[in-house]
Amino acid sequence: MSSYDHLSREQLVALLKRREREASYGLVWERDKIEPEGAINDDFVALDLDLSLSCGDGPWQNLIIEGDNFDALRYLRMTHAGKVKCIYIDPPYNTGNRDFVYNDHFFDKTHRFRHSVWLEFMYRRLVLARDLLHPDGSIFVSIDDNELFPLGMLMNRVFGEKNFVANCIWQKRYSRENRETIGDAHEYMLVYAANSERFKEVRNLIPLTETQAKIYKNPTKDPKGRWRTIPMTAQGYRPNQMYEIVSPAGVVHLPPEGRCWSTIEPEFNKHLEAGRIYFGKDGKSQPNIIRYLSDVEGIVPWTWWPHEEVGHTDEARKEIQDILETQTAFNTPKPVRLIERILRIATQPDDMILDFFAGSGTTAQAVLKLNAEDGGTRRFILVSNSEATVEAPDKNLCRDVCAERVRRIMRGYRNRKGEDVTGLGSGFAYLTTRLHPRHRLDVRLDHGQVWRALQMLHDHPLAASATIPLAWSTHSDHGLAYLSNLRAESVARLKEQLSGHIGEVVVYSWATDRLEAILPGVTIRPIPQTLAERFGRRKGKTA
Ligand SMILES: C[S@@+](CC[C@H](N)C(=O)[O-])C[C@H]1O[C@@H](n2cnc3c(N)ncnc32)[C@H](O)[C@@H]1O
Repeated sequence: MSSYDHLSREQLVALLKRREREASYGLVWERDKIEPEGAINDDFVALDLDLSLSCGDGPWQNLIIEGDNFDALRYLRMTHAGKVKCIYIDPPYNTGNRDFVYNDHFFDKTHRFRHSVWLEFMYRRLVLARDLLHPDGSIFVSIDDNELFPLGMLMNRVFGEKNFVANCIWQKRYSRENRETIGDAHEYMLVYAANSERFKEVRNLIPLTETQAKIYKNPTKDPKGRWRTIPMTAQGYRPNQMYEIVSPAGVVHLPPEGRCWSTIEPEFNKHLEAGRIYFGKDGKSQPNIIRYLSDVEGIVPWTWWPHEEVGHTDEARKEIQDILETQTAFNTPKPVRLIERILRIATQPDDMILDFFAGSGTTAQAVLKLNAEDGGTRRFILVSNSEATVEAPDKNLCRDVCAERVRRIMRGYRNRKGEDVTGLGSGFAYLTTRLHPRHRLDVRLDHGQVWRALQMLHDHPLAASATIPLAWSTHSDHGLAYLSNLRAESVARLKEQLSGHIGEVVVYSWATDRLEAILPGVTIRPIPQTLAERFGRRKGKTA
């Protein structure tokens, strides 16, 4: 007996009509049938600073966060909403071959809900990540055939179909793969923007490779360097682009049949005077415009990313082996050049970059490398988990591979050939996620936690400690203070600090009204409500 048998004809018709109205185009997955993810919680997240694992003494612009990215993203949504210019992620591909852990177990290819489980896992994180993107920002996601189609639909849902930018092909192999029916040589890089119109305005050109630059030569020993010729004709008939041109050797040229010159005569004369027209070795040929290599700002990126330009999987493995001196540190790293390509397209030299499936930390290496190349000050936030399992409870990928790799890149290391590689400098704060169940929030207030969150909220580098009762930091003329109590000595110290500061200041206090009365004219803000709740304080309660 079907469960509809008790319905009358009218009820069945009404039900069908409702179904028709509700049915919509899009991605559907079995959200209600899958086992809920243990990592999904509404506990408050805190970030603990581990000085022994951080690199340098701070203050730090770069962060490595150890923990589940669901928790880290929830925290970052409080401190970094709208600030991240570029997100790169390389999530588990859900191959069915032990690459995707969910509630401490793997799914094999036969599991009925394996796509739904993966989609739900990704959906939860992408929705949080979306809020972190700057209005000019973009997200690049590595994926292969296992989940490409579901992921594309999911990205449409989270970021909007209109914000799809491209699906790039990364040629991950350089040698043939003969095991499959058709050899597998590539993966994908799905690109979406917070706003595709805005992204089109801000995305960068990429530099020419030497192969692309080869067509620029200098047979004439031109002091302006290598050049190439660009044909000076265009399709169609435009009366003011149909003039006669006389070459230096006296040959009269008119545009070829069905075409016109690409510029009007006064423009052509300007090029001629500037020595930018080439009539061939003998001075008789049809005119061409000279374009110097030094004029080329770059080329528009396209969707074909060959291994010669962005590296391959072998290169990635060697890179990590070279730094960590072991072949088994991490199985699925990406090549640094691949992520560098993303950063070149999508970031300006002082942008913030996030990777919340950071694995072995390749993204940080790419950020540091590009900064070294162009003098930039890009900052990174990496989130990596420990990958500890019941079989390997002591494993800590974030600490031993990700942070260690980045530390060596910053400080320098000895490579496999025994050569010393100079460090690229910089440092990072190593943070670990800690969960506070809501019912146990009235714990002792940790001022360091409050101060770290306030610094992140205001884009200040993270200090190693908070000097309580007054924590103070200055960043690009912006002063930030956290006053933990209103005792006379504390207020006196704040006054002293304020008198020595030129520029804007924001002071945070648990008792804004009282402090405002003491310090008229100073911008005093209450501890944001999300933080106040997080650290067990009710609104207005003084420490
Ligand atoms: C494919 S790897 C990323 C590799 C990285 N692009 C690189 O070059 O090293 C995906 C990483 O995400 C990690 N991961 C999976 N689920 C996670 C989660 N919920 N939170 C944080 N990391 C997670 C995996 O353990 C793995 O290290």
